[in-house]
Amino acid sequence: MKFFVDTADVDMIRELAELGMVDGVTTNPSLIRKSGRDIKTVTREICDMIDGPVSAEVVATDADGMIAEGRHLAEIAPNIAIKVPLTWAGLKACRVLTAEGKMVNVTLCFSAAQALLAAKAGATFVSPFIGRLDDINLDGMELIAEIREIYDNYDFPTEILAASIRSVNHVVTAARIGADIATIPPQVLRKLADHPLTDKGLAAFLADWRETGQSIL
Ligand code: G3P
Repeated sequence: MKFFVDTADVDMIRELAELGMVDGVTTNPSLIRKSGRDIKTVTREICDMIDGPVSAEVVATDADGMIAEGRHLAEIAPNIAIKVPLTWAGLKACRVLTAEGKMVNVTLCFSAAQALLAAKAGATFVSPFIGRLDDINLDGMELIAEIREIYDNYDFPTEILAASIRSVNHVVTAARIGADIATIPPQVLRKLADHPLTDKGLAAFLADWRETGQSIL
C-alpha cells in the first residue's frame, strides 16, 4: 500500500518525508485554506519535496473551466495529479486531461456507481471518502470493498485512493481490503507506529540493559 499525506503543510510533509514513508501528497481547497498559503506557491514547494504524485484540486464546476484550471495546475510540476470532483463535468474533464497524459484524481466519491464511472473516464486515481460516509452512519469501508471488487472484475487500472481517513483502523482495514493507496492526515500517520506494549517492552529492555553496565559502542 502506498501512503500519501493529506495536507498542504510543507513542514509536516518534510518531516514525514524524512521518515521515508511518503509516496505522494493530496491537497484540496480546504487544506489550502488551512495552510494560509497561495495554492501555486505551496503546491510547487510540495512537488519539489516529493517524487510521487501531488494532487491539486480545480474549483471550476464546468468541464471547460476544470480543463483550463487543470492544465494550469499541471504546469506547476510533472508530478501534479489534477483533482476533479465526481460530477459529469468532472468526468468529462478527466477524460480530456488523461488523454493529454496528465494524472487525474477523481475526488468526492461516495458510491460504487461513481467509482465505476471514474474508471471508465480513465481516472488515474479515485478517492472514496471513508470518514464522511462513517459520519452519516454509512460504512465507508464497505465502499472500498465494493470498488475493489468491481475494479478487479474488469482489470481497471484506476488506483483506489482511500481518503477522508480518520484513524489507524481506517488505514489497516483499507489495506486489508486492498486499497492501492491511503491518503493519511499527518497526525494519523504518526499514530501508526504507536503501541503501548512497544513502549512498555522498550522501557523494560532499557532498564535491564542499564543493569548490565555494558555499552554497545
Ligand atoms: O482527501 C480528502 C480528505 O481531505 C477529506 O478528509 O476528514 O475532511 O473528510 P475529511
